Amino acid sequence: MSLCKLHNVVKEYQGEEHVRPVDGVTMEVQPGDFLTIEGPSGTGKSTLLYMMGGLLRPTSGEIHLSGQDMTSLDDAQLTTLRSRCIGFIFQEANLLPALSALENLLFALRLRRGASPTGEERRRSMAMLDTLGLGERMHFLPYQLSVGQRRRIAIARALITDSALLIADEPTNDLDPHWAQRVMELLQEQSQQGKAVVMVTHHDVWASWARHRYYLDNGQLRAR
Ligand SMILES: Nc1ncnc2c1ncn2[C@@H]1O[C@H](COP(=O)(O)OP(=O)(O)O)[C@@H](O)[C@H]1O
Ligand SMILES: [Mg+2]
Repeated sequence: MSLCKLHNVVKEYQGEEHVRPVDGVTMEVQPGDFLTIEGPSGTGKSTLLYMMGGLLRPTSGEIHLSGQDMTSLDDAQLTTLRSRCIGFIFQEANLLPALSALENLLFALRLRRGASPTGEERRRSMAMLDTLGLGERMHFLPYQLSVGQRRRIAIARALITDSALLIADEPTNDLDPHWAQRVMELLQEQSQQGKAVVMVTHHDVWASWARHRYYLDNGQLRAR
């Protein structure tokens, strides 16, 4: 059974100008997949990821996650499904500004489990921050950190919840070559452990790590 399945998904935004960045996308994501989506800026890549991650409802079409039709769930059910199954690395770091690096990870774990993180989870969170070069910075607040450090916290936060589907929107942005490479290795490890990784990137070198490469343009997804 596929982990995530999109069937004829359309998204329209009604504003002063009517836009339809996703116009009939059908795709499947299997456990252990590593796939990338490329495409011009403003084409709809983030929109597609948001829908796949249950953060945005499609105008039409169906999205199934772990066998459940996400489009038929109410907001509360969708939130539960999302917090159980999905790790999301946003295009902007989107950290909670009043929480330290470590607390941002612990908060994600609390949402996942509906209870306070265990001592073991706290240790794993500290080790994850250490892996991402933030061992000395785990008690700093986001504003006290550089853009690249904040991005690495956001990545650690998505990884720590051990999600079946990891969605990463340009995760190597703001990172130097060393950390970009390290983050790619961590994402690849996730897929080797049976998690699915769906990543948007503008970088050919990172896209070439994927098992399946797609390109989104004019609302249509095609294999590269
Ligand atoms: N909330 C919104 N309301 C109206 N238009 C939007 C909204 N979000 C995105 N768009 C438009 O949809 C298109 C695709 O945006 P986005 O998915 O962010 O593209 P990408 O991630 O490929 O750069 C853009 O034209 C953008 O202006
Ligand atoms: Mg985007």
